[in-house]
Amino acid sequence: MESPVINLGDSLDHQARSMLEWPDEFIAMLKPRLLALHSGAALAPADLAELNEYGILQAQTGKITVFGTYLLGVVVQEGWEEADDEFMSLLKGLKGKAILDVGGNTGWSLRHMPASPDEAIIIDVDARSLVLGYRWARQEQRRIQFELGCAEKLPFADSRFDCVICRNAITYMHQRTAIREMCRVLKPQGTIYLRFERIWFDIRKLLHATSLRSFCGHLRDLFWGLCQAVTGWQMVPDNAIQDRNRGGVPNTFFYRCGRTFGTLPQYKVLLKRGGCSAVEVLVPRKVARCLGIPTQHCLIARKVDRADS
Ligand SMILES: C[S@@+](CC[C@H](N)C(=O)[O-])C[C@H]1O[C@@H](n2cnc3c(N)ncnc32)[C@H](O)[C@@H]1O
Repeated sequence: MESPVINLGDSLDHQARSMLEWPDEFIAMLKPRLLALHSGAALAPADLAELNEYGILQAQTGKITVFGTYLLGVVVQEGWEEADDEFMSLLKGLKGKAILDVGGNTGWSLRHMPASPDEAIIIDVDARSLVLGYRWARQEQRRIQFELGCAEKLPFADSRFDCVICRNAITYMHQRTAIREMCRVLKPQGTIYLRFERIWFDIRKLLHATSLRSFCGHLRDLFWGLCQAVTGWQMVPDNAIQDRNRGGVPNTFFYRCGRTFGTLPQYKVLLKRGGCSAVEVLVPRKVARCLGIPTQHCLIARKVDRADS
């Protein structure tokens, strides 16, 4: 039987550690139950009692907790990946022996690859999503390594991977550092798949903001995105520093930033600096649009062999 491994290092995330102990049956039923809650369907009293016991529903009010909302977000996000059939066919074509998914969350991508590669590793700063993915991978009998860590300091040797995936995660990272790291760990002739949010993603968020608070947050992200697009300088995002002890970005004087949108020219330059050149730009077929314009792009790049350059 194939079994996954997880490395949470010295993480003190108690919720993540307790999720390691949740019973298998509860883990197996978690997704359908959360989706039922989301759709307003009625759950059996025994199901509700269990969700209550593990902190997903509030005991007194029966309402979903902050932790439950977080888990629901993770499950909904997996659904978006599942709907991305272009990404699925790309995964089918990946013949590499060693694949790394940076910011892979629950590891949906590698858990759904048709053929198990020799080495499949997910790295993410979010311990709880890693634990959830690990528990699902155990039930699905997938040999995957779940690693808690920062994209800005990948704990891997140079030229180790045939393929590096970073899907809808680069805009949460310190991009210059993360792309340098991804290029470093990639083998010559290896492939990088980058799917990222463009400025239109931020504008769409602003147009659909549901509260003044979220409007201000999106405006802040848009401002820092524009700042990066014009000057090349990026405010260090929270995610990049929260795990500073395990890597991250050392400069932390200013760090109040969420996402920073990316642009094709900027990524092409950063990839080139890391020895990679863009080979294909794709507009995902199923992607949200803003004023008719796709909010995301995919960029596929290959690391140039020294002999070719
Ligand atoms: C929007 S989710 C995308 C997840 C998945 N790749 C997908 O396509 O649905 C972004 C992920 O990036 C992770 N992330 C953000 N900043 C990171 C960093 N500095 N290093 C590693 N992972 C990071 C988050 O924890 C989250 O799991």
